[in-house]
Amino acid sequence: VAIKEPMKAHVKSIPGPKSILYLKRLKKLNGAWSFPHPFVHSDKSQGCYIQDIDGNRFLDFASQIASNPLGYNHPDLLKVVKRYNTHPIKFAGQDFVIKEHIDMLEELLSIVPKSLNAAFLVNSGAEAVENAIKVCMRKRPETKYGISFEHAFHGRTLGALSLTNTRSVYKKNFLQLPMQRLPFTREATTTLLRLVEEEGSQENIGFVIIEPIQGEGGYNLPVEDLLGSVRKITKKYNIPLICDEVQSGMGRTGKWWAHQHFDIVPDVMSVAKALQVGACISSKEMFPEPGAISSTWGGGHRMDLALGIETIHIIQREHLLSSIQGQGKYLKERLNELNLTNVRGLGLMVAFDMPTKINRDNLVLECLKQGLVLLGCGKQSVRMIPPYIITKEEIDEAVMILERAVKVSSQKGFKHRGKICEFIECN
Ligand SMILES: Cc1ncc(COP(=O)(O)O)c(C=O)c1O
Repeated sequence: VAIKEPMKAHVKSIPGPKSILYLKRLKKLNGAWSFPHPFVHSDKSQGCYIQDIDGNRFLDFASQIASNPLGYNHPDLLKVVKRYNTHPIKFAGQDFVIKEHIDMLEELLSIVPKSLNAAFLVNSGAEAVENAIKVCMRKRPETKYGISFEHAFHGRTLGALSLTNTRSVYKKNFLQLPMQRLPFTREATTTLLRLVEEEGSQENIGFVIIEPIQGEGGYNLPVEDLLGSVRKITKKYNIPLICDEVQSGMGRTGKWWAHQHFDIVPDVMSVAKALQVGACISSKEMFPEPGAISSTWGGGHRMDLALGIETIHIIQREHLLSSIQGQGKYLKERLNELNLTNVRGLGLMVAFDMPTKINRDNLVLECLKQGLVLLGCGKQSVRMIPPYIITKEEIDEAVMILERAVKVSSQKGFKHRGKICEFIECN
């Protein structure tokens, strides 16, 4: 669909009357209600703009939580969607073979470090993490515990949740795998060495898992050489290192994988979101014996696999990795002009801080009311993760809305009011 004139965000009312009807039904029936954005998508979204069923238009700096990297209705992705007009679209992909499964393995393995030469396709990020830790543990019969980081987020299934150290609401009353935590600071290496040398044998450590840039825990960049020194120690003691690239991978930071900024190669990777399917990636020797790991739908979502493959092709064809670096730099420059605190990030994985959590939540909601979709992360940070096709003009529009929203929401005694408060976690 050709875009004739530049689009702009435009909000009449949020939630609009049609969305309200749906949101009420959802709130009543959804067992996992967690305050979704208070509008309902239409299929008329285009590029970096979301259009809802009430005709509101929002500039999208959330990208479906980093899972929709090429915006809405990308013409090349639409062509893929149109190709799939037979049934079933989903096959039991580990037990019945479809072509897309093999094509995806080849495409994916062509963009990861050479030593990682096999992958197992699954359904989600958490499932990718689950399998990453299983792959490690199968090779380590003496495993007594695993190691993750403070503020880490690796998903919410029980295994992955054990590695997650963000919000207590995710964990309350749930049984956990035995874990040790490292600080996401320079001190990590001292703690890791102490664990290796003091707490029984290094054979007892099943794996170390790290997000090269922490995502939901606050868009925290590692201190210089954190990844390098963790890699050195894990290599020396033969402990498998997993990089969780579910959020930071697939080009988001301007390289295919965020760990490439730090010159390391992990033993195992978990990937999902922008890939459209989940994947646990490692060396063929690292994977367990036949029959040890599987999943009914894994490797069987024909359309998702084809969309993931085309996503890789588009990123290559349109040279998006370098434009992500350029646009990310521009976004950070523009944010710094607003004197925001702790503007940080790599590529289009950018964040800044607000003085308090309440300020942050108020700002994110005010932006939404003015047509800019953002997400919070960590205690009081705001993340900005637009689609890779974002233009400078769209960044300027986002920064303009943000500036206005900061002014409005920072006023003394500011409070959101009205219908919207029925559907959001309102301060
Ligand atoms: C780094 C990381 N790992 C794992 C997950 C879990 O992915 P999913 O929600 O697809 O299960 C996420 C999700 O946000 C993530 O950011």
